[in-house]
Amino acid sequence: MQKSIFPVREVSGSIRLPGDKSISHRYGMLASIAEGTSTLENYSTGQDCHSTLGCFAAMGIAVKKDGTTVTVEGGGLDGLRAPTVDLDAGNSGSTIRMMAGILAAQPFVSRIAGDESLSKRPMGRVMKPLAEMGARITARDEQFPPLEITGGPLKAIDYTLPVASAQVKSCVLFGGLYAEGVTTVREGIRTRDHSEIALKQFGADMTIRPGMISIAGRSHLNGAKLTAQKLMVPGDLSSAAFFLVAALMAEEANLVLQGVGLNPTRAALLDFLVSMGAPIQVLDLEHNGGEPIGDLRVRSGKMRGGLMEGAMTAALIDEIPVLAVLGAARGGLEVRDASELRVKETDRIAALAENFARMGVEIDVRPDGFRVEGGQSFRPATLDSFHDHRIAMAFAVAALAAEGECRIDRAEAASVSFPEFYQYLAEVAR
Ligand code: S3P
Repeated sequence: MQKSIFPVREVSGSIRLPGDKSISHRYGMLASIAEGTSTLENYSTGQDCHSTLGCFAAMGIAVKKDGTTVTVEGGGLDGLRAPTVDLDAGNSGSTIRMMAGILAAQPFVSRIAGDESLSKRPMGRVMKPLAEMGARITARDEQFPPLEITGGPLKAIDYTLPVASAQVKSCVLFGGLYAEGVTTVREGIRTRDHSEIALKQFGADMTIRPGMISIAGRSHLNGAKLTAQKLMVPGDLSSAAFFLVAALMAEEANLVLQGVGLNPTRAALLDFLVSMGAPIQVLDLEHNGGEPIGDLRVRSGKMRGGLMEGAMTAALIDEIPVLAVLGAARGGLEVRDASELRVKETDRIAALAENFARMGVEIDVRPDGFRVEGGQSFRPATLDSFHDHRIAMAFAVAALAAEGECRIDRAEAASVSFPEFYQYLAEVAR
């Protein structure tokens, strides 16, 4: 689908964003292996999170959907049936990498595959720790999906993450839930901790210290088990990022984003924007299922440039494309230590460079980052999502500030995390 986007002057109003993608995946997975019926409200509408549910349905888990409320009849840790078809992770790295930890512990062989983009993404990062735990996993060219996972009894490991990745951490913790003994994951750079919070919420025995997360496996303390929960998924802060930036780039803005997840391992986005001068306020803060939730108000404002590196880059990895757009329009942005961007749904550094070139925006690209000067104008152009949801949405936001109509090819990519994106954008941008 090609989408036309016209420039706007104002971004204002009030919207409630769909459920957080990261949290929805984890709730869907843990509800499936918990005992009893879980109710998950405001479950992400993104295709990725429905790929996760589809994989469990293919293993005999009853999943009912009523609007954005998902009911999962969990089968307990031993309740999954051997799938008779390949499990389909679609476009979702979170699905394949986190589920691999659960599949590795099952008494059956499974195959999990994905679309063309996912089939090019590296899986060695989960295969290695799972092999240490005792699983047998084969992959195309030793590292790409499909994965064939011969599950079986796992043993606990003490694993130091070689890449800052919440997906890998979660994979090992989910495997650890089934393993004999206590599994520990150590991380040098802190990554999102939704799995730790969700595992605790569902009843796992966790010990959390700075840089070190341990989970007691099933043979420990009379066997681990998870218990069904009634949970509400907070609005997705990574989806909110597109609206925050749209407002910050508009001539006039007064936008409220309601019920957004503000977990500190994700809310680095707000700190970063505020450090660049963004007038963002957190209006009300409450907690649900251990996750903080609040309303955000954003107005347009004068912005300074920003430098992102190290732990900050890891914390903002999903938001970098749209922050690059903001940097180019406003005070500039330099990003370092971001080689992970090269192995996302597309090579996001290359995608930024290509779309910016089409808009006449200069960008200095490096192997693990880039630098854009601020105050650049955006020429109308035909842009490409490169089949990547965050590239589609970042450039839709750029198009709002262009000097004329822009078109985005393959704009439907947005739906893997945010199917309602263009509709919401049209509601608030005029
Ligand atoms: C995610 C972790 C990040 C992020 C992805 C979602 C998660 O990936 O980019 O969109 O839900 O755990 P990595 O774990 O590969 O850094």
